[in-house]
Amino acid sequence: MSVIEVNKLTKDYGHGRGIFDVTFEVHEGETLGFLGPNGAGKSTTMRHLMGFAKPQSGTASIGGLDSTAKHHEILRNVGYLPGEVALPDGLTGRQFIEMMLAMKGTVSKGRSEELLERFALNPAGNVKRMSIGEKRKLAVVTAFMSDPDILLLDEPTSGLDPVMQEVFIEFIREEKRRGKTILLSSHIFSEVEALCDRIAIIKDGKLISTVDAADVKHGLKNEFTIEFETTDDYDRFIHSGLDPENGNKSSKKCVISVPDQLTNAFLSALSKCRIRSIDEHSVSLEEYFMHFYKNDKKFGVGGVQNA
Ligand SMILES: Nc1ncnc2c1ncn2[C@@H]1O[C@H](COP(=O)(O)OP(=O)(O)OP(=O)(O)O)[C@@H](O)[C@H]1O
Ligand SMILES: [Mg+2]
Repeated sequence: MSVIEVNKLTKDYGHGRGIFDVTFEVHEGETLGFLGPNGAGKSTTMRHLMGFAKPQSGTASIGGLDSTAKHHEILRNVGYLPGEVALPDGLTGRQFIEMMLAMKGTVSKGRSEELLERFALNPAGNVKRMSIGEKRKLAVVTAFMSDPDILLLDEPTSGLDPVMQEVFIEFIREEKRRGKTILLSSHIFSEVEALCDRIAIIKDGKLISTVDAADVKHGLKNEFTIEFETTDDYDRFIHSGLDPENGNKSSKKCVISVPDQLTNAFLSALSKCRIRSIDEHSVSLEEYFMHFYKNDKKFGVGGVQNA
């Protein structure tokens, strides 16, 4: 069952900026990573989902509630961590937490205390004078304190130090185990790899691909540079049906990408040749996604479906 639904959502800010015909869904209990370069439209999409902005056309809904019509209900029920945290002046962290608890209609303070401890935040000071990381932690505490089933997290770990990033990732892992539905925008590939079940990629306001995280990992190629003992060995390998990308007979070297499903064929072809050296170079999730960011037309990895 899909819990978060975005259907042909469009908001044109002019000059090619905005979001255009964006469609995706997040299923119950799923974590969807929302990736894309700066200005791609991630925060705009999330603001529309929360009902802070009205679409020109298309719809957004959370838990069956239309984002525009049911903005207040959504605010009460969904944990939202905005990309930029705007905090009111003159309040301490604790007063801010109490204000947000009242707004959400949550009586129990227990969970906010737990979260303050977990993220090592002292809420006594004026929120305006908090450091970037402290403001971010306060936003994390307020997003999670009423224990919502659905979470929209816009670059949740930006501004957190590496130790706190780890604490946060472990915390989200636990929330996933508890069945939460999460839409998470991020520029941090390790975070996406650790947490996301599927990944949606947005660029210039358009959703360009939605992929299964497991498919991406399996589809990633391991690249090998092989040097053979003799040109005969080189020839035998070149004609093994594996189709190396880059071969040079005089240097007796070739480069080959091996997806998981060809590992056995690769090892079998290698076993029939004498090898002088072999170097492995694995393609990481980061390199894979960099192709999208850099507009690399050559990219192509198994398991990718265009949206
Ligand atoms: N209220 C607005 N008025 C005019 N343009 C806007 C408005 N909000 C967003 N934009 C434009 O829409 C585009 C998408 O912005 P958005 O903040 O959604 O990007 P993003 O993917 O969240 O980027 P980042 O990774 O930098 O956070 C940008 O070009 C931005 O300038
Ligand atoms: Mg943003």
